[in-house]
Amino acid sequence: MTSKLCGAGIIGIGSFAPKTVLTNADIEKIVDTSDEWIVTRTGIRERHIIGEERLAVSDLGIEAANRAMASAGITPEDIDLVVCATITGDMPFPATACLIQDKIGAKNAAAFDLSAGCSGWAYALATGSQFVQTGMYKHVLVVGVDALSKFVDWTDRATCVLFGDAAGAAVLAPVEPGTGVLSTYLGADGGGAESLKIEAGGSRCGTSEETLKNGLHFIHMEGREVYKFAVRIMAEASIKVMEQCGITHDDVDLFVPHQANTRIIYAAAERLEIPTEKVFVNAQNYGNTSAASIPLALDEAYQAGRIKEGDVIVVVGFGAGLTWGSGVIKWTMPSIG
Ligand code: UT7
Repeated sequence: MTSKLCGAGIIGIGSFAPKTVLTNADIEKIVDTSDEWIVTRTGIRERHIIGEERLAVSDLGIEAANRAMASAGITPEDIDLVVCATITGDMPFPATACLIQDKIGAKNAAAFDLSAGCSGWAYALATGSQFVQTGMYKHVLVVGVDALSKFVDWTDRATCVLFGDAAGAAVLAPVEPGTGVLSTYLGADGGGAESLKIEAGGSRCGTSEETLKNGLHFIHMEGREVYKFAVRIMAEASIKVMEQCGITHDDVDLFVPHQANTRIIYAAAERLEIPTEKVFVNAQNYGNTSAASIPLALDEAYQAGRIKEGDVIVVVGFGAGLTWGSGVIKWTMPSIG
C-alpha cells in the first residue's frame, strides 16, 4: 500500500544479540561440516546464540526495545502499541509482545504478536506504520526477534549452521508526508508451507513421544527450494515496492535485505542492478536471525554511518509461510558521524 495519509517513519532504532558467539570452528566440532563449506555456501562466519545464558526471546526483545526507545528519546508510557514479529515466542501464548510490553513498562500500549517467519519484521513495519498513518496511534514499537538456535536439530548440518539469535526494534511515529515509510508490499504463498516448518507442537500434531523421537519439533527446511524462491522473490518484492512509490534502483542509497545467506543477497542485488557497495550485509557475523535480521541490519548500518538523513532505503525479506515483504523508507533520523 502506498501511503496517502500522514507520514510514518522510524524515529528510534535498537538491536541486541546475546553474548555467546558460535564460530564455524565451534560448529565443526558438533557436526560434519567445515568453515570452508559454510562460508562458500552462506557467507556466515559466526552467529550469536542464547547458549547457556538462559534467555528467552522476550529478554532479547526487551533489550532492543529499550535501545530503540532511548534512541527515539521517548518514555515507555509514550508507546501506544507493541507489535512483535516472532516465530519463537517464549511460550505458545501469551504473546511475546505482552511480555515485552510489561517488562519495558509500556503500560498504555496494546500488544500483539505477528507470525510471518523471516519476513516478520517487514510485515510488522507495514502493520505498525498504518496505525500511525491513520492517526490511530502516535508511537508504535515494532520488534523483530527470534531464537532459532532453540529449534534447530544440532545434529542436522544442513540447518544448524545457518541460524543465530537476536532482536531488533524500531519506534514508528508521525513524520513529514513524503518521508519515512513511503511504501510497503507484502505477499504470501501458503502452497510452500511444507518447505520451511516446525511440524509438531501445534494443534495438528501435538508433542508426543513419537514426534520427539522423529525430531518433528525441530526446523525442517528444503534448502534448495527455499533458495530458488528467495532469489526470485527478493528481487520481485523489491521491484514491486519501488514501483509503488515511483522510484527505481538508481534512487536507492542502501539495500538492506533479510540476512539469510550472502549468496542470496548478492544474487538478488544483481537482478535489481544495485551495486554491491549499496548493499548492507552483516550475515557473516550473525547468521540468519529470522525476524530480527532486517532491524538488526538497519540499526548496524545506521550506527556505522551508512544511512544518512534523507537516504532512500529498500528493505526486503522472505521466509516461512511462504511469505515475503518489502518497504521503501526515506530515512528521517539525524545522520551519525
Ligand atoms: O530465512 C529463510 C531461511 N532459509 C534460507 O534462506 C535457506 C535457503 N537455502 C540455502 O541457503 C542453501 O540451500 C543452503 C545454504 C541451505 C544449502 O546450500 P546448497 O548449495 O543448496 O546445498 P545443498 O542443500 O544442495 O547440499 C549440497 C551438499 C549435500 O551433499 P551431497 O548430497 O551433494 O553429497 C549436502 O549434504 O552439501 C551437503 N551439506 C553440507 N556439507 C557440509 C549440507 N549442509 C552441509 C554442511 N556442511 N553444513
